[in-house]
This record gives sequence, structure tokens and C-alpha cells, in this order.
Amino acid sequence: MKIISHPHKIQKFIRNLKLKRKTIGFVPTMGALHQGHISLIRRAKKENDIVVVSIFVNPSQFGPNEDLKKYPRPFFNDIKLCNKEGVNIIFAPKANLIYPKNYLTYINVEKLSDIMCGEHRLAHFRGVTTVVTKLFNIIQPDKVYFGLKDYQQSVIIKKMTADLNFPIKIVTCPTIREKNGLALSSRNAYLSNEDLKKALSISQSLNKAKKLIEYKKSVSKKSIILEIKKVIELNMDKIDYIEIRDADTLEEIKNIIDKKVVIAIAAYIGKTRLIDNIVVNPVR
Ligand code: PAJ
Repeated sequence: MKIISHPHKIQKFIRNLKLKRKTIGFVPTMGALHQGHISLIRRAKKENDIVVVSIFVNPSQFGPNEDLKKYPRPFFNDIKLCNKEGVNIIFAPKANLIYPKNYLTYINVEKLSDIMCGEHRLAHFRGVTTVVTKLFNIIQPDKVYFGLKDYQQSVIIKKMTADLNFPIKIVTCPTIREKNGLALSSRNAYLSNEDLKKALSISQSLNKAKKLIEYKKSVSKKSIILEIKKVIELNMDKIDYIEIRDADTLEEIKNIIDKKVVIAIAAYIGKTRLIDNIVVNPVR
């Protein structure tokens, strides 16, 4: 396994692999790897000759009062995990190589970046799409792997890839959860055992809502959101949003749920912001 920190070096290395007609699978991450990340790496291993994992805590996607400084960085453990999974290249640049002094260029997917998480984390998705564009240009992958845990992110990246004509296939992979249903997240490391129990209310209320919609077929959006809100309010300290939207376009839906939707939640325990979602298809 090679660990490369300079964009020019990895570009040169990849150019040689491409001359040998190797296919490149790419898993972008911010490190603190867990089984969610590992599931993406394993899928990439299955489908490509070479797997590249980037580990980069991207400053431009963190707001001024967010957890950029304290975001977990267990770099040596991440390297061990990647090595064990047969990753071929880790790309781990320093921030000043990605954003040198006087950096001025940003990519923004309009509308989609302003709703849901974007409404509460201003400029977050602009930071994500900017760094992902840069990583696409540096690594030139054939396929890139994203988790559905960050549902809105995956929709935005797909739109950006299509709009900017990147010759890249975006592969989305299911959310990996603890046995009790809690979605794995690097930010779970901030939570005490008691907090982790409270956090369970998110996946539990999503599952309950899914059952209600599937059982009753057409139900009102308002009633489902109210049901979820009751449970979340009891357990979490602050709710950013509970939203039900078209699963493909993230457009608002009418009041009756009668098509494939995503239910998405963002809420805080103390200072820790957690997100989760579930896709429901009542017409199946
Ligand atoms: P990060 O939060 O490290 O996540 C990297 C990838 O792992 C994302 O595609 C995310 O959706 C996926 N992932 C996280 N938890 C998961 C889980 N429980 N199950 C399945 N997949 C999961 O997302 C980012 O980093 C950044 O925004 C990034 C795309 C790297 C740009 O900086």
C-alpha cells in the first residue's frame, strides 16, 4: 500500500496505472474509518483493479462554529485498516496542498445545496462539492463510492457529476448500522453510553415511520413528521429538521405520501450533530 500526500505525485502515479489500463475505484473519506467506510472500500475492491482511499478532513465544509479542530484523526489506525482491506493507495494531503494561499475557486450545486442540511450548515455542500471535484480531477477514477448515510450528499454529488460531465460512475452503498440500528458515524465517538441510547431514537423513529407509510399506503406527511417529532423531542437536545422529500430529486412532495420518498433527520445531542435517513416506497 502506498501513502501519498502530494497531488502531483498521485497524479503521476495514477497516470502510469491508467497506461496499464487499470481501472480505478475511489473512496473519499475524512478518516476515522469505521465499518461504514470499510463497506465502501470492499465494494470498490470487488469492482476495480486499484482502490484509492482519500483521508482528508476538509476545512471548507466545516462552518466557523463546527468541529473541524476536534474532528477525530486516528491516522495510524486508519492506515492499518486500509492495509488490512487491501487498499492500494491512500491519498492524505495536507490542507495547504488542497487549498494553497489565495485559493479562489469553488463549485456549488445550486438549490440542492441550500435545503435540509444546507439550510443549517451554510456553505457546507459548497465545501463538499469543491473538494470532491478537486479529488475527481486529481485521482481521475472510473468509479467513486458514496454511502447513503449522507443521502443529500450522494444526490448532490450525482447531480454535479452529471452537470459537469465527469466520466465517472457514482456508486451509492447502503448505510451500515450497529445491531441496534444506530447508523455508524465518526461523530458517534463524541457520545457517552447514555447519549448513544438516546441517539437510537433517530433510527427507531425512522423505522416506525416507514412501517406506518407502508402499512397505511397513503398517509399525510404532516402526521408522519409529527409522530417522528414526538419521539425525537423526548431524546435529543435540538432538532435541525425532519423532512420527507422525493427520494430521487429531493423536491418537496405534496401532503400525501404516495411515491418513493426519503425521510431525513438531523438533530443534536449536546454539541454533536447526528443525521440519518430511510427510503420508503409505499407503491411497491
Ligand atoms: P465521511 O463522513 O468520512 O464519509 C465518507 C463516506 O463514508 C461517505 O460517502 C459517507 O456517506 C460514507 N459513510 C459514512 N458513514 C457510513 C455508514 N454508516 N454506512 C455507509 N456509509 C457511510 O462524507 C464525507 O466524509 C465527506 O463529506 C467527503 C465526501 C469525504 C468530502 O470531504
